[in-house]
Amino acid sequence: MAGMSEIAYFKTETSDRLFADRLDTTSDERLALVLSKVAEHLHAIVRETRPSLNDWRAAIEFLTEVGHLCDDRRQEWVLVSDLLGMSTLVDALNSDRPGKATPNTMRGPFYRPDVPLMRHGANISLDGAGTPVDVTLHLKDLDDRPVAGAHVETWQANAQGYYENQQPDLQPEHNLRGHFVSDDHGRVSYRSIRPSGYEVPKDGPLGDLLAKLGAPLCRPAHVYFQVIADGFETLTTQIFDGEDPNLGKDPLFSVKPGLVGCFREARPGTDAALELEIDFHLNPARQELDA
Ligand SMILES: [Fe+2]
Repeated sequence: MAGMSEIAYFKTETSDRLFADRLDTTSDERLALVLSKVAEHLHAIVRETRPSLNDWRAAIEFLTEVGHLCDDRRQEWVLVSDLLGMSTLVDALNSDRPGKATPNTMRGPFYRPDVPLMRHGANISLDGAGTPVDVTLHLKDLDDRPVAGAHVETWQANAQGYYENQQPDLQPEHNLRGHFVSDDHGRVSYRSIRPSGYEVPKDGPLGDLLAKLGAPLCRPAHVYFQVIADGFETLTTQIFDGEDPNLGKDPLFSVKPGLVGCFREARPGTDAALELEIDFHLNPARQELDA
């Protein structure tokens, strides 16, 4: 029987260690490490901010409310992760690339995998609403050699800031979505419209809280791309409208060097008002670590 002297009594300064010491590290070392780190940082927050019992109850209610908002159509936990900058941090740590390679961003919830292949020059604005833009992409490797045969998918919001799958009754199926294969010069060209930015949902608990605190909730206008090419890492990224007033305050923290585009006045010879030219530098596929 354990004597009183062997009991590790609770102390506020070492409360997290008391928890961590009870974990069985032999059954899953990694999980035990992560959980003990969660305890370490959470206990530190509590020691530092000293919540009252009412504060703590409010925090639990907040988390409960986030959970209750989640269903098949809405994932409030992902939004919490996004708005706290955690999603972009996790993505960035998992897609660390050399400086010249185009950086990754999160794919977001509006991607659709079922867009049919299109011819170069196709107009992906199926309702013709918005300012027409000629888009040209140049796919290159890190030595600036063209990458031919790459599958490029693109998707974007319309001029009111809505994706086609948010407005199935208002926009045509697959509106503002494209799927192309790069030519021998590593090029892809198509016609689209200039997208608009949009506000992230603020009717949930975190959006509501951030709105009260005056945090920015408007995403700057952007176009998504996913590039899949043999011998290269898959690139999922966004190109932002360099003239958008919210460029420096993306609530999802996705604006990175090399991802700011310029909607220029179109050169003569096209009926598009604007043009957008983008270089993508693809990172070579990584060696399998255990190969
Ligand atoms: Fe978006």
